[in-house]
Amino acid sequence: MEGRCPFGGDRIGGAHGNRPTLDNWYPHRLRVEVLHQNGLAADPLGPDFDYAAAFNAIDLDALKADIKQFLTTSVAWWPSDYGNYGPQMIRMAWHSAGTYRIADGRGGAGTGMQRFAPISSWWDNGNTDKSRRLLQPIKHKYGNGLSWADLMVLTGNCALEIMGLPTYGFAGGRLDAWEADNATYWGPEVVDMGTLSDFEKMTGRDKRWRGKNGDADYDLENPLAASHQALIYVNPEGAYGDGDPVGSARDIRITFTRMAMNDEETVALIAGGHAFGKSHGMTPSKEIGPPPEMAPMEAMGLGWHNPRGTGNGKDTMTNGIEGSWTPDPTKWDNSYLENLFKFEWVKTKSPAGSVQWTPQDPDAPKTPDAHVAGQMHPLMMMTTDIALKVDPEYRKVCEKFLADFDAFTQAFSKAWYKLTHRDMGPKHRYLGPEVTLEDGLLWQDPIPDATHAPIGEAEIAALKQAIAATGLSVSDLAFTAFSSAATYRDSDKRGGANGGRLALAPQKDWAVNQRAAPVVAALRGVMADFNGTRSDGKAVSLADLIVLGGCVAVEKAAAAAGSPVTVPFTPGRVDTTQDLTDIEMFTWLKPVVDGFRNYVDADYGRIAPGVSPEELFLDRANLMTLTAPEWVVLTGGLRVLNTNHDGSDTGVFTDRVGVLTTDFFRALTDTDLVWEKEDAEGMRFALKDRASGAVRFHASRNDLVFGANAQLRSLADVYAGSDGQARFVTDFVRVWDKVMMLDRYDVKGHRRHG
Ligand code: HEM
Repeated sequence: MEGRCPFGGDRIGGAHGNRPTLDNWYPHRLRVEVLHQNGLAADPLGPDFDYAAAFNAIDLDALKADIKQFLTTSVAWWPSDYGNYGPQMIRMAWHSAGTYRIADGRGGAGTGMQRFAPISSWWDNGNTDKSRRLLQPIKHKYGNGLSWADLMVLTGNCALEIMGLPTYGFAGGRLDAWEADNATYWGPEVVDMGTLSDFEKMTGRDKRWRGKNGDADYDLENPLAASHQALIYVNPEGAYGDGDPVGSARDIRITFTRMAMNDEETVALIAGGHAFGKSHGMTPSKEIGPPPEMAPMEAMGLGWHNPRGTGNGKDTMTNGIEGSWTPDPTKWDNSYLENLFKFEWVKTKSPAGSVQWTPQDPDAPKTPDAHVAGQMHPLMMMTTDIALKVDPEYRKVCEKFLADFDAFTQAFSKAWYKLTHRDMGPKHRYLGPEVTLEDGLLWQDPIPDATHAPIGEAEIAALKQAIAATGLSVSDLAFTAFSSAATYRDSDKRGGANGGRLALAPQKDWAVNQRAAPVVAALRGVMADFNGTRSDGKAVSLADLIVLGGCVAVEKAAAAAGSPVTVPFTPGRVDTTQDLTDIEMFTWLKPVVDGFRNYVDADYGRIAPGVSPEELFLDRANLMTLTAPEWVVLTGGLRVLNTNHDGSDTGVFTDRVGVLTTDFFRALTDTDLVWEKEDAEGMRFALKDRASGAVRFHASRNDLVFGANAQLRSLADVYAGSDGQARFVTDFVRVWDKVMMLDRYDVKGHRRHG
């Protein structure tokens, strides 16, 4: 085309992100770039921003007073129901937390992800954009010391309090993310975003379920915890939108269990939440405009435009179901359960055409209109509410709560605290005067406070000698230290070396950790000798000793390579107890694939069908917050130390095991060598000399990916080069220390980076 601007064609590539993209061309590519999400470059507050200091500078009482005043001050552009924004704010807070799932710890209230797509634009989050926009003046008033993530949860708490529920506590400490999350798997359904108002298409579900609701082996794909794409949990109209409460109860149990809630907590949350507010269904969904992510520019980030009437107030359309559960929707009372059980409920339809339930008895109590004074409406229940009555186990809990309102109040209060704090991690991340850390909140993975004086430089030096004197190998010590830290996942801040849980069930029994058992036993001996002979009150924990053993190993390996280093060690870890360890909940931390230790679970094909080991390895690196360079250098170092779970030589491309060399990278990139499959599935490979055909080494997919993937290979080149050794040792030690410190919020504080 003549005279065309030299800077572009019809579209400007970079900014537009033109399709087709790499993902379109190569759908099976390894998306290494997920490791660089939410990095420093995206964070306007920079590496030194100390959220704890900024949050603690806020007067929480004054902030809560501001929020409570806001809740009861209606504004014209989005008038509050019943003159109280409380219920809609509770729903916003619940939806911010309710994305949490136990399998990978992702989702949850921790980073304010409700602000970004896809979550911001899920059908189920309808009009939560208004809730957050209403809160904007408070956010601006308090600035960066109050994250959106904390503000949403705190507003939920304030709402509960002004309506009469004594809350169990509140902790600040959630650091906002600054970009959409592209690493979380929200399900296989590809939704045609052009049909967003078509509820049925939006909430496709069949691909994520095994079998049909009611089948004996009916189950939901892991790690998902929602029954449908774009919903927080389940379809309020029943599993198939058919108003079947029995089937609905099945979906509720599966999905709430995935959120780590038992039956009692589930009933408490649903019955407690629906003591407040109303559902909105005045307009058929097909008339509703696009969600925030697709809305026109002038909507300024707000979506779901409702063309009827004022589009809000009495015309509001959110989900499609219409009505309130109780006669007094802004008061904490037991009338939800009372009415659920007192009346027979019959199916009906909302003005928008959704399935809902209404009391059969015309004399049942009525509920006031949210906007029109004097107008009354029949009560409403959703199919998911009726499910609590028809399911025998849920029914038992309902009956208990019906008979004992105080028990219900306490159960809801505690379950709400768990729901909204579940992904905050160690207690050191909890900020503010309303923190509740009472003993017995097992979901907090408690670690007791230290009862001994910490060890200092002299003791560390003595302990290092004692560890070296055990004769434990570099490989065994490094394996054990790494294994103790490797459970950490940043998604919900669980796992890690602190607590010494490697020595407790279930971790001590996992196949991947078996190699650690004799090492832990020997280190216990060192610990007993040290602690038993001191009179100065100093003692070392097993958790610290395991990590120190890793330092001894890495230092020895580096010295043997002619690159002596001192590996940082920060004491202060405390051993926890078996009683303070929820075995079932910790079982979720068991790796299916841990490429760092060249481990692939025997049951991998069943647990993760269709997912390659290297994708799960990448996921592990992501959960450990490693960048691509960190992932590469860590793996290369672990291989020459031989931290394979079974001690095998797979991926150990060196003749000098236990010496911290770049041999792994050199073999991986050596053009005189050639790789061949050793099995039909392509899980195991042999490395042969190109000329002689002699087998030099064996490898798994979790080794070869560092040479086969272009991005990872370019990083392997950095260390394989003639000048690679010094950088390799420095970088490896830095990442090693990072991994050992992943869970040390007691010393790290509240900085997002580093
Ligand atoms: C409202 C479904 C659990 C708190 C709603 C609405 C639906 C719904 C469809 C109406 C939204 C609208 O149109 O405005 C469900 C389902 C649940 C569930 C299917 C699980 C089976 C919970 C939980 C809580 C909660 C656990 C809190 C602990 C609320 C509140 C409202 C609400 C406060 C009223 C919002 C308002 O007045 O604007 N729920 N919910 N819900 N939900 Fe739930």
